[in-house]
Amino acid sequence: MDLITKAPKGTADLVPEAAEKWRAMEEVLVSEARLNGFGEVRTPVFEHTELFQRGMGDVTDVVEKQMYTFLDKAGRSVTLRPEGTAGAVRAMLENGLFNAGYPVKLYYNIPCYRYEKPQAGRMREFRTFGVEVFGAAEPVADAQIIAMALSAFQRLGLKDVGLQLNSIGCKTCRKDYHQALKEYFSARRDQLCGTCLSRLDRNPMRILDCKSPDCQALAAGAPKITDYLCPDCREHFAKVQEYLGALGIGYTLDPGLVRGLDYYTRTVFEFPSQSLGFALGGGGRYDGLVEEMGGAPTPGLGFGLGLDRLMLALEAQKTDFPQPVRCELYIAAMGDGARVRALALVDALHRCGVPADCDLCGRGLKAQMKYAGKTGAQYSLVLGEDELSSGKAMLKDMEAGASVEISVGEDFVDSYLAATAAAVGG
Ligand code: HAM
Repeated sequence: MDLITKAPKGTADLVPEAAEKWRAMEEVLVSEARLNGFGEVRTPVFEHTELFQRGMGDVTDVVEKQMYTFLDKAGRSVTLRPEGTAGAVRAMLENGLFNAGYPVKLYYNIPCYRYEKPQAGRMREFRTFGVEVFGAAEPVADAQIIAMALSAFQRLGLKDVGLQLNSIGCKTCRKDYHQALKEYFSARRDQLCGTCLSRLDRNPMRILDCKSPDCQALAAGAPKITDYLCPDCREHFAKVQEYLGALGIGYTLDPGLVRGLDYYTRTVFEFPSQSLGFALGGGGRYDGLVEEMGGAPTPGLGFGLGLDRLMLALEAQKTDFPQPVRCELYIAAMGDGARVRALALVDALHRCGVPADCDLCGRGLKAQMKYAGKTGAQYSLVLGEDELSSGKAMLKDMEAGASVEISVGEDFVDSYLAATAAAVGG
């Protein structure tokens, strides 16, 4: 085969067997979101670039280095969404969802795009399942979304997942903290990487999130935000922990956890996988973001789960996924008249929700039966001239080998359902 091109680096096709597992995983997440009263939001894959620059902060790795940004034919800068929160905030405001009263609870299952160096669990196109809650300032909301993610993990049977928790405070407490960080890192500036050096004045907290080993070593000894929390943020964080405790949820406090995006305030959390060595998801509060986007001051919070990573974790622990729907009846046909009749019978079964199929490739009878075996069909039926004229055909149980005569006339569906019910019953 001489393909003209392959899929772009950092993207992956999902072919039916894999897509079937993804569907099963996504169904659990969607059903968990619906149980918790979330409604789905679908936003465009691309947005005006300033949405992400303003939303995520322009001194972040994602905005500075990873966005797929280009000019459209009218010369407008657009960006493939690198995450779901900014678009959800815009859609909530633009569609006036707040008019129905707070909280507004939204979920989404979307492809996102980041120009990163691909490796296991890091793609350029990846899928995120996210939830966002708007208008809920109370710490009970923080506890609820964390509990919801953990409940979904439990329903998926995911074993290797932890919860890391921190509070990164609000604007007030961050003033003093930024100052402390600047002093700490300025005294060690010769050990910082080039990117962090440029961030020292603009956004020193980003240094804590740098992947360079030297910066990480420095960050380990840096002042901790939790020592700088204002009384309100301190109380909020204590309550979140109290509620998690009441729900029996275990967690690790990680004062170094700051997350990679600028919009977070107060509670931040991640769900790390020990064995895979990366976060399956993360989130937190963003009480200033809605206002930053042009809305009225409105608290917000949410999380995003990386579905590619979640699938890696489920596969690593050898999760049993539900079996795909398999063909129940395969109708083999000989001759034009029989082929048309087979098509009509299959169509009639589909209308009753019975998975059935017939030949699409013009194969002979033997090849059709071989294909029926390959599909794993439970029953088969052969239609030829004789069956058409008598209106009767033999329904064969492919495994047991037993056959029973059924009608292939007007009452085909009733006759088929009665015969298969009797087979199950008998
Ligand atoms: P994030 O931590 O940047 O947060 O991404 C969420 C999750 O997406 C990560 O934990 C990871 O599992 C997955 N992910 C990120 N980048 C990649 C990649 N290149 N390849 C594969 N998976 C990836 C956010 O995006 C926030 N919007 C989450 C949020 C929602 N916070 C509040 N609401």
